[in-house]
Amino acid sequence: MAVLGPGGVGGLLGTLLARQGHAVTCLARPGTAAQIERHGLRLASDRYGEVTATASGAERLTGPVDACLVTPKATRLEEALERLPAPVLGDAVVVPLLNGLEHMALLRQRYPAARVVAGSIRVVASRTAPGVVRHEGALAAVQLTPGAEALADALAGAGVDVAVRPDEAGLLWDKLCFLAPVALLTTTHDAPLGVIREQQGDDLRALVEEVAAVARADGAVADAGATLAFAQSVPGGMTSSMQRDAASGSETELEAIGGAVLRAAQRHGVDVPVTTRVVTALRARLS
Ligand SMILES: NC(=O)c1ccc[n+]([C@@H]2O[C@H](COP(=O)([O-])OP(=O)(O)OC[C@H]3O[C@@H](n4cnc5c(N)ncnc54)[C@H](OP(=O)(O)O)[C@@H]3O)[C@@H](O)[C@H]2O)c1
Repeated sequence: MAVLGPGGVGGLLGTLLARQGHAVTCLARPGTAAQIERHGLRLASDRYGEVTATASGAERLTGPVDACLVTPKATRLEEALERLPAPVLGDAVVVPLLNGLEHMALLRQRYPAARVVAGSIRVVASRTAPGVVRHEGALAAVQLTPGAEALADALAGAGVDVAVRPDEAGLLWDKLCFLAPVALLTTTHDAPLGVIREQQGDDLRALVEEVAAVARADGAVADAGATLAFAQSVPGGMTSSMQRDAASGSETELEAIGGAVLRAAQRHGVDVPVTTRVVTALRARLS
């Protein structure tokens, strides 16, 4: 199988799959591809321990694969897809694990013969060097919609918690209903969730309610009360990758997360004044 963009998410899953004996080809930029081709993948994980696994590194897919995990950040997705030619990919299973929604349409338009199956992952993992990943904590949970059974079995066999659920909209929005409010507010205030809960409680509530309303309009079952209760229960030190990226001057997934919520709200005629205010201010600050 192939992994396009072997960073925190792709490198973790690629390492675990390769350790189980699956032939894994990592499609990456030249330096990262060469590093993986020479030295394989490396993982330091609280859950899986220290793992080194043999994998191939390549700049472009040149032969058939059963399945491809798509794991660059949203900001790099279009350029990364150049490494995955549609005629070579053929009718393979394609599973993106990016946060957001809009990559699904892009992939289906670009790979009409492939089986694009929705996926999401709950994990804390970061790429510390090319082909090297640090995985913090025990969380490594993937959700997939039906159609990627062999990949689901392979991931479960590799030690990942895997669940298959039928509702694509629910799978994608479940993640976003919590992530979007938390990412947008922690980034706006450059503060962890505990501070947001204490000092920006009204905005947190409004954002959670607005995003849930958009999710419902888009076909998902979304319960703002449950999301708020969950947001109250997680450790106050929680930060978001959008906040960390903004603080370090890196590109953020603002458009894939906040922008996607606004576009879906507009499509469905849902009023989202607080989300609009917060995303507009972040667009101005981060552009
Ligand atoms: N990390 C997490 O804990 C986590 C949890 C849940 C969801 N997610 C979501 O998963 C997605 C991936 O996040 P991530 O944290 O894994 O990102 P990441 O660590 O930055 O990894 C992205 C990978 O994409 C590669 N890449 C960039 N441009 C490329 C190109 N043109 N061609 C091929 N590869 C390219 C990077 O290569 P180099 O190694 O060469 O830089 C990097 O290995 C995001 O949508 C994120 O929101 C992440």
